[in-house]
Amino acid sequence: MPSVYFQTFGCQMNAADSDAVRALLSGRGFELCGSPADSDLIVVNTCSVREAAERRAKSRIAEFAGGKKARAGQRLWVIGCMAERLGDKLKEEIPGVDLGAGAKQMERSGEAVEAHFPKGGAYVGINANGGCDVSGVERLSPPLFSKAAVTGFVPVMRGCDNYCAYCVVPYVRGNERSVPYEAIESTVKEKVGSGVKEITFLGQNVNSYNHGGIDFPELLSRMAGISGLERIRFTTSHPKDCTERLVGVVASSQKFASHIHLPVQAGSDRILALMNRKYTAESYRSLLDMIRTRLPRADITSDIMVGFPTESDAEFRETLELVRCARFTTAFMFAYSPRAGTAAASMEEGISKAEKMARLSELIALQTGITREIYDKTVGEELEVLVTERQQKRDLAWMGQDAGCKRVLISCEGLAAGTILKVKAVRSSGMTLIAEC
Ligand code: 5AD
Ligand code: SF4
Repeated sequence: MPSVYFQTFGCQMNAADSDAVRALLSGRGFELCGSPADSDLIVVNTCSVREAAERRAKSRIAEFAGGKKARAGQRLWVIGCMAERLGDKLKEEIPGVDLGAGAKQMERSGEAVEAHFPKGGAYVGINANGGCDVSGVERLSPPLFSKAAVTGFVPVMRGCDNYCAYCVVPYVRGNERSVPYEAIESTVKEKVGSGVKEITFLGQNVNSYNHGGIDFPELLSRMAGISGLERIRFTTSHPKDCTERLVGVVASSQKFASHIHLPVQAGSDRILALMNRKYTAESYRSLLDMIRTRLPRADITSDIMVGFPTESDAEFRETLELVRCARFTTAFMFAYSPRAGTAAASMEEGISKAEKMARLSELIALQTGITREIYDKTVGEELEVLVTERQQKRDLAWMGQDAGCKRVLISCEGLAAGTILKVKAVRSSGMTLIAEC
């Protein structure tokens, strides 16, 4: 059987896209392989959001391209945002890449896979180069690619129309388009039927979902009615679309995780306007108040950026002040990275790299302290945890997630992935809660 090795960089949408390609290849008889050197096909799914992400992907792809000589007939595919951004330049930059398929083509990945590995009829193993290894894949039952998962991702919309000044996503993923409701419902039911307990609905801008008159709050309400689906998450919400009605739906059923990821990016109104974020620090704070009133125990998490062009030290301190007030459970924190073609790329930065890094360290130190305090305060509380996987190296230890966004390590006998149970948090490591049954 032919084998495929996956390496996925970037966001959860990329993880979902890799899973979709994996399933398509599985239907063509491919087995998942744990080692790139022993695989017939290597698929690298790439991210373009910051320069460092592209640098990492490029060096990994070059490494894979160099290793191809050792395995006759091995093929190398590059998919996702960097493949979209670089287009044909990718193959010129890294000889050895056989196929580049950009993020905009992901909805058509079925056709791309079909073109290379037609379903039905005889399949000539890609390792053969001259025609051995022929198998009729239709006669083979698709192999199980991964151990049964209890959590799954379902993309409900793709692309973004917001054009934040720093962001390459609208260019590489295209304009917003929503998946028809029926397709979402059947995907969810199929996943639940195969043992999935928790679904995370994905979109670059998930709460602007709208298809055939069904908007995101309506979609979520309908999903809560699906039996066997125990927990529902979604990401990422743009503050401008995070309405009281949406938060009301989240508060209306225990099935919704008490977690909202709400990127703030900055705490200065001048910088927020330059970023084209369409809210102010004050309106963001009012939004947090509204969420906390309706969902008092909610974990709110965020993305925060330092060093946007022309950000002064005083403006950076406004970001720190907002972070102090907001008390995010956790946050992803970044230094601004210019991306060609975006509005910010033509702005004079006016901040040295050293200054950006110093700001980032100060922000990380502040948020890490807040995260630690929030985790420490949870010790002694009862948590409702979905057990997701066994912790490698340790006996009787399982990993799970509470009804918010906190990671929980449980030491308990006789557990199984997919169980939801009430446990007591007995200790905190600052980033993980330790619980006992
Ligand atoms: N530089 C740094 N961070 C960025 N992000 C998006 N574009 C850039 C960039 N050019 C961050 C934002 C976004 C997250 C996914 O990545 O914080 O919310
Ligand atoms: Fe990028 Fe802004 Fe769209 Fe998020 S909302 S993907 S940051 S342009």
